[in-house]
Amino acid sequence: MEVPPRPELFDFHGVSMTKYFTGNWENVQNFKARPDDILIATYPKAGTTWVSYILDLMYFGQTLPERQATVPLNERVPFLEITAPFVKSGKELADTLPTSPRLIKTHLPVQFVPKSFWEQNSRIVYVARNAKDEAVSFFHFDRMNKIEPEPGDWSSYLQRFMEGKMVFGSWYDHVTGWWEKKQSHSKLHYMLYEDLAEDTGREIDRLCSFLGLSLSADEKDRVREKVHFDKMKNDHMNNFSSVKIMDFKISPFMRKGKVGDWKNHFTVAQNEQFDEHYKKKMMKSTLQFRTEI
Ligand code: A3P
Repeated sequence: MEVPPRPELFDFHGVSMTKYFTGNWENVQNFKARPDDILIATYPKAGTTWVSYILDLMYFGQTLPERQATVPLNERVPFLEITAPFVKSGKELADTLPTSPRLIKTHLPVQFVPKSFWEQNSRIVYVARNAKDEAVSFFHFDRMNKIEPEPGDWSSYLQRFMEGKMVFGSWYDHVTGWWEKKQSHSKLHYMLYEDLAEDTGREIDRLCSFLGLSLSADEKDRVREKVHFDKMKNDHMNNFSSVKIMDFKISPFMRKGKVGDWKNHFTVAQNEQFDEHYKKKMMKSTLQFRTEI
């Protein structure tokens, strides 16, 4: 089967989306969450895979090592809303996950999350990343991922990022929407990619206390070592290399894994324009990001 032409973006209840994430909408909205499910929610490219593997190791590193060695991460932690060529339906994978708890990934903005997650009061880990590195990472991802809309050149891509014309909509709305939710929802842990890069061990400790897990110091060290960028990059079960819709010759999924790579992409003029626009968009939010550490 050939990969079909790249999809078009369209407006879906006020959010830019493609058919690959809306095609199974009714079923996704009716997903039956369980109280012990853990939802990993992010805007694309915020460190979803990193945090997914951390949680997977925290829960199952000791008990299910064989599963980790034989089932790729994207099937161990299903992507709830995906329905696309060459990939298994995320909803079906989630429904049939044999683990307990179930770790489930979503990129949905907060208003689109299936209501059963709120009704069941499931725990949610949200990961956010600074907008500049997001834009760069998303650009390279869209170049290599054949089910993403055509990215065009960097400068037009950056404009579209600022306008929110990306799959899953505006980064600004996504991170602030989830941030507002956190103020009233205690089962939501909001983490930042930059904090994780600065001190992975500290963030693992924070996750343990949010999830009520007590890992030994040795177990925590083992998680930290396994999720190091260089380790994950060469780890075929955890680097997306089994996913056919991605062309690693164009750009690998595990690309750079750095805070501040935006400096290699933004021109001085682009940076000034971006900063000015950013201030206006984020004026009302208390959410703060670091663009370097
Ligand atoms: P870059 O493109 O900047 O390298 P997601 O999983 O949400 O799609 O995010 C992918 C981004 O997270 C990529 O960023 C990828 O390299 C980075 N990433 C994944 N695993 C990482 C790790 N262990 N350490 C640091 N960055 C990681």
